[in-house]
Amino acid sequence: MLNITDINHLAAELLLSGKTRCEKTHLPNAIKPLLEIINNESCYNNNSQVPFMPLSRLNSAGELAACRGVMERVSATGQFTGGDFIPQLEKLLEAFYQATACVATSSGTDALNIALKSIGVGAGDEIIVPPNSFAATENAIFSVGAKPVYANIDDSFNIDPADIARLVTDKTKAILPVCLYGSMRNLREIAHQAEQHELRVVVDAAQCFGMPEMLRFCDAIALSFNPCKNIGGFGKAGALLTSSSEIAKKARQFSYHGFAESKKNLKVQNWGFNSRMDNLQASLLITKFNFFEINALKRSFLAYRYLHHLKSLDEAHRIILPLETVENTWHLFPIRINDDKRNELLRYAKIMNIEFDTYYPTLGYEGINNYALDYQDKTNYAITSNIHASVLHIPLHNHMSIEEQDKVIAVLYDFFK
Ligand SMILES: Cc1ncc(COP(=O)(O)O)c(C=O)c1O
Repeated sequence: MLNITDINHLAAELLLSGKTRCEKTHLPNAIKPLLEIINNESCYNNNSQVPFMPLSRLNSAGELAACRGVMERVSATGQFTGGDFIPQLEKLLEAFYQATACVATSSGTDALNIALKSIGVGAGDEIIVPPNSFAATENAIFSVGAKPVYANIDDSFNIDPADIARLVTDKTKAILPVCLYGSMRNLREIAHQAEQHELRVVVDAAQCFGMPEMLRFCDAIALSFNPCKNIGGFGKAGALLTSSSEIAKKARQFSYHGFAESKKNLKVQNWGFNSRMDNLQASLLITKFNFFEINALKRSFLAYRYLHHLKSLDEAHRIILPLETVENTWHLFPIRINDDKRNELLRYAKIMNIEFDTYYPTLGYEGINNYALDYQDKTNYAITSNIHASVLHIPLHNHMSIEEQDKVIAVLYDFFK
């Protein structure tokens, strides 16, 4: 099965074979089938609205039909929680990631909780983390009694590796980088810093499914399969992957009440979460996995199309396009806007029936919770605040049509003309 890096290369090649703005009239043969799939599988909305992430369209008709069949089969067995599909999914993910072990969990958040517990994080430990992620990332740290310590991000939206040394204390146990919006950028340098300071690394890859090489730079990876993710389940689901059999053993124990694996109700840990993935969910994710390559290719093709058609706005310094174009799963397509025009653009797009979004509007240290209030002096975080204030997301999902994408591109050109 192709990984995301290969898929990105393929998408770039396909785009280059037919890069004009009017693919419809000058379609080269190589990209016709892909464009047909993209346009056929979406229920293109005739009222000319382009939604940011239309929940009812995140599964194609083909995916829904396949999943209905599986749901019926599992329903007949009554095996909704435990069952054979869970180890099957784990094997499938282990093979794809070439991991020693996979533990399928009931959410990405739980995969993070379990990963931190399994590498030995506990009360009083400090974990270096970016402040621009979803709350799940820092909440996992709090949930095991540790303390998040915010690092600055850089233009990649991930932790700036150069900021790590400033934050290391004798309590620092690990770094928790987030491959935000789908980009794996900076992970090698972060792993290098971790090695220098003898720290563990857990990667929050909730938005970055499909990069097996990631395992080389960390102790464990946490994935999310919630419905909005690149492979979305039918509810909450996640997974932990690791190359360490020791971490895997602990992760299995902590994922289910602290029980020893394959010993009924025998506790080997004082406590554990109730966080195993449901069998029904696993059966649906195995089915969705069959669509992974084609969906990733569609997504990547759309991302490269944005990169190609928006290039002149980037060159004119109106927007900044994403830096990472190869090790990127394109979970979201972030652009950065210069000149404080972000809100104006959001409003303009809305009037034009296009939905843009600022996905996580508030940084961790901007909350009004007690912990965030410790960061009232934000002098050290000016870079992060500036980058974050300029970012906005334009629509991109597995079943977005080319027509919809053309409207997004046109709105951006209209706004900046
Ligand atoms: C960056 C990030 N981390 C963690 C999570 C948590 O995943 P889940 O929703 O599966 O608990 C999410 C997803 O919402 C996420 O986007």
